[in-house]
Amino acid sequence: MTEAAFTPRVFSGIQPTGHLHLGNYLGALKRFVETQNEGVESLYCMVDLHAITVWQEPEALRRATRELTAGFIASGLDPEKSILFNQSQVAEHAQLAWIFNCVARMGWMKRMTQFKDKAGKHAEQASLGLFAYPALMAADILVYHATHVPVGEDQKQHLELTRNIAAKFNHDYGVDFFPDTQPVIEGAATRVMSLRDGEKKMSKSDSSDMSRINLTDDADTIAKKIRKAKTDPAPLPEAPDGLLDRPEARNLVNIYAALSDRSVDQVMGEMGGKPFSEFKPALADLAVDRIAPISTEMERLMQDPAEIDCILARGADRARGIAAPILHRTYEIVGMVGAGGA
Ligand code: TYM
Repeated sequence: MTEAAFTPRVFSGIQPTGHLHLGNYLGALKRFVETQNEGVESLYCMVDLHAITVWQEPEALRRATRELTAGFIASGLDPEKSILFNQSQVAEHAQLAWIFNCVARMGWMKRMTQFKDKAGKHAEQASLGLFAYPALMAADILVYHATHVPVGEDQKQHLELTRNIAAKFNHDYGVDFFPDTQPVIEGAATRVMSLRDGEKKMSKSDSSDMSRINLTDDADTIAKKIRKAKTDPAPLPEAPDGLLDRPEARNLVNIYAALSDRSVDQVMGEMGGKPFSEFKPALADLAVDRIAPISTEMERLMQDPAEIDCILARGADRARGIAAPILHRTYEIVGMVGAGGA
């Protein structure tokens, strides 16, 4: 393996916990499809080991992993072109994560805001896995020497940690083995906000289902959620800078831009100055047009779970083919007997 010559390779993952929502679609899935279609080698992973850092009912986890896979495919990922698999079928992730647990420093981990958000006031009751979560995420990426990771804004800090772990490993062992992975956080919708509160991220854990559009929602539900989305009474501003202090309006414009593959400037050129009574129906039509077919296709794919399992098993074989030699070489660098070396 030639070290320091890193061919472009994309990796990203989504947790199989609950339904996919519009934030996952615009911040991640839609961009995965664009990357796949640019022809870069891409791996997309259902991160089931990450999911169990908080309690998951086994049956619900199995279903969510299959549903997530269906969501990937229904969004346009082609299992022949991209490698689609679930994390636990490729043991190399967990194996490299252990090495990274020994590279990452406690101080780094304690600064992770996602842990603080998720553990809240009950950090003593949180699992050790939840604390170590970002080291496993670094392993997901680096076990493939991935050079680019498309994600939403909320994953930025984890990707900085990934780069720190790679740099410390390279430095400690005097090698240039792991790449300096680049986060790819691009587009109008890297942080889609709740439809009920423009200051809060759209998320699966929000107790209000009206706060998000799920990829499993049917056309009527999607339209209703947009109709009822919180807004202020003023019409849309004439120009984009008028959106700065209007979080709800800004969020809906960003969603419109991302769904229609246009820039915010272009959308404002068309919609600026219009009242929400005109803008919302246009947005609802667009969202139904883009999301409802995904939901229908997911439902169809979920009729055949055996086929989904087959796709994941095939993807895992292909993924292992890349990960195994990288893990082997890592063991060799670290000094594990049996992995080669003097
Ligand atoms: P997860 O499962 O929370 O989210 C999956 C992807 O969706 C993006 N996302 C959003 N984007 C825009 N607006 C939103 N409201 C929104 N909500 C979620 C996330 O940024 C993410 O890209 N730790 C990761 C999973 C992971 C991973 C990895 C990602 C594990 N290993 C390796 C990349 C590389 C997570 O919990 O994502």
